[in-house]
Amino acid sequence: MQKKRSADPGDSKMMVAARQRFLNAGHYQPIADALSRTVLAELPTNTTASCLDAGCGEGYYLRQLRTAAGGDGHSLALMGLDISKWAVLSAAKQAATISPWANWVVGSNANLPVLSNTLNGLLCIFGFPVYSEFARVLKPGSILYQVDTGPDHLRELRDIIYPRIRPARTVEPQQPAEFTHRSSISIHYRLTLTDTAAIADLLAMTPHLYRTTAEGRAKASALTTLEVTVDAILSRFERH
Ligand SMILES: C[S@@+](CC[C@H](N)C(=O)[O-])C[C@H]1O[C@@H](n2cnc3c(N)ncnc32)[C@H](O)[C@@H]1O
Repeated sequence: MQKKRSADPGDSKMMVAARQRFLNAGHYQPIADALSRTVLAELPTNTTASCLDAGCGEGYYLRQLRTAAGGDGHSLALMGLDISKWAVLSAAKQAATISPWANWVVGSNANLPVLSNTLNGLLCIFGFPVYSEFARVLKPGSILYQVDTGPDHLRELRDIIYPRIRPARTVEPQQPAEFTHRSSISIHYRLTLTDTAAIADLLAMTPHLYRTTAEGRAKASALTTLEVTVDAILSRFERH
């Protein structure tokens, strides 16, 4: 999915469009709410707090953070970065309908266009963390907020599209050398999708679209309703 050496790296135009529709429909709102609550509880309020979303996709979680910060006295300097030009284009377009409130950059987590020791917070949501680089840009004592899939994530969809029940592909948050693990919480809920388009978007925004077979994709596209588990883990890592 990263295709870093390709002329068109990262998520494709089609994946970005699917994720934009799916997220804007609110299906992952509980994840955004938990993230915004957690981040805003500890970003400084006595100064403009700088926060980077590394692998921001089409910008949903930064838009949600900005909305949540609206009334609570936070002044935020936000940047969204993604290796996919399609993702950054979509994020910038959607942000422009509000007002220019964030910088959107095409770039790689491996080489962030950010000065060392300057950020108050960094988000990496279902992304590709490069801890040494994250540590370089965060101020000591600042927090990396990482969201990964838990073992039950989209279990029912996986059961339908794969011929045998596959062991869960859990991404256990590691203990990166430059960070201290502070906490992890689970965001676990049932989601009911009642139309074929939303189910197709969910499949298209995940790597399952490419991992499954043509038969698996056909089974998914025949669904008119799907009850599926969302299982995400939000971890906080403090920069030493
Ligand atoms: C699963 S998507 C998650 C997007 C967004 N965080 C969200 O949850 O909606 C992973 C994103 O990481 C981007 N990506 C992949 N490799 C990257 C890299 N090396 N640096 C920055 N972004 C990368 C992809 O283009 C894609 O937008």
